[in-house]
Amino acid sequence: MFSKIKARLLLMTILVCLLSTLLNFCFLLNHEAQIENARDMWLSADTSGTIWLESDRQQEIHVSHHAPLHWMHCLYCGINLIVMVLGICGAFWMYRRQKVSRSETQPAATLSENGLDQIVRSLYLAVEMKDSYTAGHTERVAQYALAIYDQMDESQKRMLPRNDLRYAGLLHDIGKVAIPDHILQKEGKLTPEEYEIVKLHPTTGADMVEQIESLAHISRGIRYHHERWDGRGYPHQLKGEEIPLMGRILAVADTFDAMISTRSYRQAVSAQAAYKEVLRCSHTQFDPQIVECFKKAYEKGALQVKKPGSE
Ligand SMILES: [Fe+2]
Repeated sequence: MFSKIKARLLLMTILVCLLSTLLNFCFLLNHEAQIENARDMWLSADTSGTIWLESDRQQEIHVSHHAPLHWMHCLYCGINLIVMVLGICGAFWMYRRQKVSRSETQPAATLSENGLDQIVRSLYLAVEMKDSYTAGHTERVAQYALAIYDQMDESQKRMLPRNDLRYAGLLHDIGKVAIPDHILQKEGKLTPEEYEIVKLHPTTGADMVEQIESLAHISRGIRYHHERWDGRGYPHQLKGEEIPLMGRILAVADTFDAMISTRSYRQAVSAQAAYKEVLRCSHTQFDPQIVECFKKAYEKGALQVKKPGSE
């Protein structure tokens, strides 16, 4: 809606400038014709625009006011032309931007939704079969992400199709298939070197998903689901709204589920404690607006928290 208003304003600016330039140009031509007539009537004119009557050289008729008027019109014409050119450039820039964002939000879909569902399901099952700790995790993350999404306002929803978020949630950890088993299933804490390998999974997963043309546009959610609002996440240390919306939603859903799940290196916490921790990390780890939506969803019971292992 806002971009439509901006486009209309730009178009109106261009039209007004065009009309104003044309009118001014006509006025200028008319003005030139008047001066020419005066020159025909009078026999001599000096360069400053001071015109003398031949019959009575004692009588000086100053038409020097014509000169500043003339330059004012030229200047006005010039300003109008510059504003018009800027308007055209602005309109072109908006068109390009809209085209890029449309290509980001719309898949070059060639597969049916059913076909995509099957591909996505087989991919995330591959991770769950490899890592018992993530069993059920991907489905819960997708479910929490959608519950958060449903609390967002319409303008945000227009930027992100609901089904794209669902696919990104189901595939966010797909890159874990490339992590060696002895690291992925290690009992106890990881060494710094092992942790560096684990940190590659968002990049690996996004690169994998980009190979599927109909899913390539959701790879941003996968690549950036471990970024933090304060810029201290990984892999690219993006900050604030530099992080794609999909990544910001998945970060909250993923962390919430990770906290209520038992992992090899720590015990699960209660849903209430995890909820409070997410709220505490608003503005630092998470986008405050997404945390607000998470809060609404939790308070309405829309998250339908299932204890991992209860499925
Ligand atoms: Fe992850």
